[in-house]
Amino acid sequence: MRRPLRVVITAGPTREPIDPVRFLSNYSTGVMGAALARAALRRGHDVTVIAGPLQEPMPAKARVVPVERAREMQRALYQAARQADLVLMAAAVADFTVARPARRKLVREGTVLLRLTATPDIIGGLPRRPGQVVVGFALETDRVLARARAKLVSKRLDLVLAQSAARRPFGRRPVLAWLVRANGGCEPMGEASKQVIARTLLDKAERLWYGRNSGSSAAAAVQTRARQAVHA
Ligand code: CTP
Repeated sequence: MRRPLRVVITAGPTREPIDPVRFLSNYSTGVMGAALARAALRRGHDVTVIAGPLQEPMPAKARVVPVERAREMQRALYQAARQADLVLMAAAVADFTVARPARRKLVREGTVLLRLTATPDIIGGLPRRPGQVVVGFALETDRVLARARAKLVSKRLDLVLAQSAARRPFGRRPVLAWLVRANGGCEPMGEASKQVIARTLLDKAERLWYGRNSGSSAAAAVQTRARQAVHA
C-alpha cells in the first residue's frame, strides 16, 4: 500500500523591502505552486505551502504559511521540510535584497543608489532528510538545459523543471518546459499548461520517492512483524 506523502511546496515571489512602502520582487504569481498543491491534494497527500505574496488562491485544504522576504521563506521551509517527503521549490525567490532598507519613505528627487546583496540559496542549503525528494525550477532566457543541469548539480536536486522565459510564461500562460533528471536524462514536455506540468512533475517526483523508499519501508515492516512475533 502506498502511503500518502507529506508534500511541501514553495510558491509565488518573495519581496525585499526598499523602504516602508516599496519593494524589489518579480513577476511570479503562484499559479504553478497552486497547481502543484491541487494536484497533490487530489492524490490524498498532506500539503503545506510556504507562500510569498500570491495573486492565485491556494486550495482550502492546503496548510499555508505566508511569508514575504527570502529569509522568512528560508526559515519557514527549513522548519516544514524536516517532516517532508517531497519538497517542490516552485517559488521565484528574489535574488537580491537591499543591504539597508531605508527606515523612512525615500523622496522622489535626484538619484538613489541601492546596494544589493544576494539572498541565500534556500534550496541549495536545505538540510536533507534521508529518502526525501527535492525538486527545483529553472526559468532561463538562454542555454536553458545547460543552466538547468548546472543548477541541478550545484543545488543537489533530484529533478529540475527547466522552463524557457522566452515567451514570458507568467501567471496562466503556458510554459515550454523540460524535465531534467539527476541521471543526466532530459524529457521535453513541449508547451503545456501549468496544470498539466504540475501533474506530470508530481508523477515523476512520487515515483522517485516510492522507488527510493519502498525498500526501507518493506524492511521496516519486516522488523515490525519480527518484533510483534517476539512479543506474542
Ligand atoms: N532558489 C532558492 N533560493 C534563491 C534563489 C533561487 O532556493 N535565493 C531556487 C528557486 O526557487 C528554484 C531554483 O533555486 O527552484 C532555481 O532558481 P533560480 O532563480 O533560477 O536560481 P539562482 O540560483 O538564483 O540562479 P540565477 O543566478 O540564474 O538566478
